[in-house]
Amino acid sequence: MTGPRPRVFVTRRLPSEALARLAERAEVNVWAGEMPPEPSALRERVTGVQGLLCLLTDRVDASLLAEAPTLRVVSNMATGTDNVDLAAATGRGIPVGRTPGVLTETTADFAFALLLAAARRVPEADRFVREGLWRTWDPGLLLGRDLHGATLGIVGLGAIGQAVARRAQGFAMRILYVRRSATPPPDSIAAIPVPLDDLLREANFVTLHVPLTEETRHLIGRRELEMMKPTAVLVNTSRGALVDQKALVETLRSGHLAAAALDVTEIEPLGAPDALLTLPNVIVTPHVGSASVATRLRMAQMAVENLLAGLEGRPLPNCANPEVYAAREGDTG
Ligand code: DGY
Repeated sequence: MTGPRPRVFVTRRLPSEALARLAERAEVNVWAGEMPPEPSALRERVTGVQGLLCLLTDRVDASLLAEAPTLRVVSNMATGTDNVDLAAATGRGIPVGRTPGVLTETTADFAFALLLAAARRVPEADRFVREGLWRTWDPGLLLGRDLHGATLGIVGLGAIGQAVARRAQGFAMRILYVRRSATPPPDSIAAIPVPLDDLLREANFVTLHVPLTEETRHLIGRRELEMMKPTAVLVNTSRGALVDQKALVETLRSGHLAAAALDVTEIEPLGAPDALLTLPNVIVTPHVGSASVATRLRMAQMAVENLLAGLEGRPLPNCANPEVYAAREGDTG
């Protein structure tokens, strides 16, 4: 790079290896707070910068982009990009980076952890012991549901959905799936494509792996929840707003659904007290699906590489709005 080093704003402290790589090539301003910058602080900090490295907790909307005319690239340290207005970024010629792939297996591990925890009531069993209630071995104590041999419904058979399916095969589960893409999954995955309603009616466990878009918001609403078996378990490690949370609470309360395990909620963090937390058959974790040491480092490194590419005018290795490049060619052609 020639000329003055580009200025970038990073909205949270990241692993030092990743920040060091960025600091070799740019003037880096890192938000030091433990909480995300408020929208007004974010606006202030992006003024005059060329690059923004943000997280899913930062809303990068059209008005923020409009107030940051020097911005050349946004790099989101997440595979999901629902916090970024992609159309507005494309309109301004700004490529947006994302971090797919590196978190696939880690997130699938966690989805499976939630499936097992809900099926076998692990958090309830732990609470039982801590509360001093364990007095004897009891044939009827804390009976759960078998995962092995059960039917798993995977909504969204993309990379993470497929990684969950591979794990489910090891548990001899029958797998049903819904997928947007017409391309069938690899032959190594023995899974049956079905319409969503059939999946919901038949599955003992349903796990969600689709991105949040206007089409998928409240994909699982009251109607869908009521279609599920009363013995079924719902797992969500994708985005909270895929599920109508109010309807979920009511369905769980009325006994029309056995349990839910959620790593994501409609509003994050979940306020306490929240109706969900009053239900013993609900597990809630704080959006930690990709939270392994190795994966979070890889995500940060990938976000840095996307940012550097954008600053240097190269195509982003992982771009959420590749149409931005066609639009640019159109401008010059
Ligand atoms: C993502 O990457 O979109 C996850 O939700 C955070 O790991």
